[in-house]
Amino acid sequence: MRPIQVDLGDRSYSIRIESGLLDHLGAEIRRAVPQPSRAVIVTDRHVGRLYGPRVDRALRRAGFPVDRITFAGGERNKTLPVASATIDRLVALGADRHTLLVALGGGIVGDLTGFVASIYMRGIPFVQVPTSMLAQVDASVGGKVAVDHPRAKNMIGSFYQPRGVFTDPTVLRTLPEREYIAGLAEVVKSGMIGNPDLFAWLERSAADVLAHSEAAILHCISAAAGLKAAVCSRDERETGERVILNYGHTVGHALETATGYDRFRHGEAVSVGMDVEARLAERLKLCPPGIAERQRRVLATLGLPIRCPRAVQRRIMEAMKHDKKSRAGRMRFVLPVRIGEVKVVPDVPQEEVWGVLQGDRV
Ligand SMILES: NC(=O)c1ccc[n+]([C@@H]2O[C@H](COP(=O)([O-])OP(=O)(O)OC[C@H]3O[C@@H](n4cnc5c(N)ncnc54)[C@H](O)[C@@H]3O)[C@@H](O)[C@H]2O)c1
Ligand SMILES: [Zn+2]
Repeated sequence: MRPIQVDLGDRSYSIRIESGLLDHLGAEIRRAVPQPSRAVIVTDRHVGRLYGPRVDRALRRAGFPVDRITFAGGERNKTLPVASATIDRLVALGADRHTLLVALGGGIVGDLTGFVASIYMRGIPFVQVPTSMLAQVDASVGGKVAVDHPRAKNMIGSFYQPRGVFTDPTVLRTLPEREYIAGLAEVVKSGMIGNPDLFAWLERSAADVLAHSEAAILHCISAAAGLKAAVCSRDERETGERVILNYGHTVGHALETATGYDRFRHGEAVSVGMDVEARLAERLKLCPPGIAERQRRVLATLGLPIRCPRAVQRRIMEAMKHDKKSRAGRMRFVLPVRIGEVKVVPDVPQEEVWGVLQGDRV
């Protein structure tokens, strides 16, 4: 498959998607990032155990001296103290500005490693080697790097682009099924915000996706990562169009906050969020009736959650009111106008949102 380009002038990079890529990662990285003298793999314990030695070998074969930093993983560890401990290790290893960080893992590893790369010695190069579905279809692309603050997700971070994204879909074979499915929510999102063909393909091909067909997986990754690459190439820092990637996330993030980040995986919360937001769009007559139902059918067929637990509805409203995009009783949403197109609606009255949420009686 031809690499997908993210066009950002001197910060441009490509996304390579290929089965078995992990085994020639060193050579691929050498081609994409000519300068580095050594590599430091940053990974979580689980992924490190599964793929650390293989990546280590592939990098050494290409002539890189290699070190590895492993942290516990999980949203609970995407924090400033863990970033700081990672920096301590880099200092101890004598890492300098020519050291390349290799983020090997899911979105947690990617976000934290990118954040560390963005501040260590005022910025050192890093590459993404995403291993979860969510990271392969979404999180590894676009250069949003961050750690969480105890009070808010992704509160401390910046835009800092990787030098390349190296995606090997075969690593998804060891991914727990729940994680695999959670990542698919971002693929549905991609169809809804800008690729009606992808959405229709998901409607037809859900069984292939659920059967882990290699061709189906490749299609999901290339279509979703491709759309995100195109959007981020036009609007790197979310001053305009990039905001459409947040479809489903206003409610989704609030749901994650309201449930303490351990009940829903990120993708699951986005699935619930897209359902609420599509019904909101119908209620506001922004899109024709039936869109929410069509979307719900795809989400449910893929095994994604849709219903928003009743017990947390009030807390979701509270979390959204504190969102930086809310003002004077009105909330900003990205809402569908049809399958494959969304628009930003800056002034949705809170009562309308509450009305839609209450439609959920679980
Ligand atoms: N930067 C962005 O643009 C962006 C976009 C979306 C999400 N995110 C962030 O991504 C994070 C969630 O990412 P995630 O869902 O990948 O979580 P994650 O990194 O915790 O990975 C999920 C779990 O799967 C395991 N895992 C990963 N790859 C595996 C493999 N190949 N085989 C077996 N197990 C594997 C991990 O160890 C972990 O337990 C959130 O913090 C979210 O905010 C960032
Ligand atoms: Zn997301």
